[in-house]
Amino acid sequence: MNIASLVRENIKKLSPYSSARDEYSGSEGVFLDANENPFGNLNRYPDPYQKELKKKIAEIKNIDAKNIFLGNGSDEVIDVIYRTFCNPSEDKALTFSPTYGMYKVGSEINDIELTEIPLKDNFQIDLDKLNPFLEEVFYKVIFICSPNNPTGNAIDVRDIEFILENFNGIVVVDEAYIDFSSQGSFLKKIEEYPNLIVMQTFSKAYGLANVRVGMAFTNEEILSYFNKVKPPYNISGINQKAVLDKLNDIEKVNAEIAEILTQRDFLINELKQIQKVKHIYPTDANFILVEMEDGNYTYNELVNHKIIIRNRSGVVKNCVRITVGNKEENQKLIEKLKEL
Ligand SMILES: Cc1ncc(COP(=O)(O)O)c(C=O)c1O
Repeated sequence: MNIASLVRENIKKLSPYSSARDEYSGSEGVFLDANENPFGNLNRYPDPYQKELKKKIAEIKNIDAKNIFLGNGSDEVIDVIYRTFCNPSEDKALTFSPTYGMYKVGSEINDIELTEIPLKDNFQIDLDKLNPFLEEVFYKVIFICSPNNPTGNAIDVRDIEFILENFNGIVVVDEAYIDFSSQGSFLKKIEEYPNLIVMQTFSKAYGLANVRVGMAFTNEEILSYFNKVKPPYNISGINQKAVLDKLNDIEKVNAEIAEILTQRDFLINELKQIQKVKHIYPTDANFILVEMEDGNYTYNELVNHKIIIRNRSGVVKNCVRITVGNKEENQKLIEKLKEL
């Protein structure tokens, strides 16, 4: 696959901003090059390529640091993908609905038409409906969310591989919830598929939503374009350190993930016993899509009691999306649901 032919011409020609830290990346010396203030302890610009953090991520994920790109949340990664590959008001992207809303918002900001193919009743990809689009030249990017938000299920591995093999464009597999899933990651497959970008985030399993750091894993060629497009210092030094500190205590992260999975089982068992619950969809994530007798009523009643869940009735009839909380939070939710 010719990746360069998928990249926008203006991005290929772009001379990226050369920051002071690009030109001299050593850490020792008298720094009079970046118009920084000599006083204070947050006075210096951070590493634009987050080398120390990427080294640690590489170790934990067992991949090469050269295959990692970091964004100000996955939301920045989505935007960088659109800006790298899709010519505004000309190229198109595709995804499978219902899914994460930022693919649509990102497409609209960048003036890209996003085709949304409905998932089947079991929330898997409808390959028959997708097939005619695979050949169309204006489609540059396909976003696959697995496990999918808001449905919670992981997408069939064979379907994702089929798309990777049959689409002459970029395939993004958004694995924001992969750490809660029994299905393996596509991370290792970036070596096999030159058109694959795997996205992950520190906002969910790592408990750092406030910090805004998202990851993209892909080959060095695609990464070289992303590094041209991103703002020079897109991850603050404070945020790089917050992630590093978390990664230095990975046992704690793993224990928290295990507790969330225990709590997920607790919620599912309890929900099964509530009469107004009509269906609990299988989940590979830290949330559960639940069909209620009346989704709007459930949502409003819970909000009145200061328990906030997500009303997805407009997306999947009568459904609400419940994030798995801690033990006390989950117990409160179940108590209130039983009273409704
Ligand atoms: C599928 C999916 N991807 C990405 C994100 C956002 O990740 P970040 O916080 O890294 O921007 C979310 C947040 O809800 C999500 O559901």
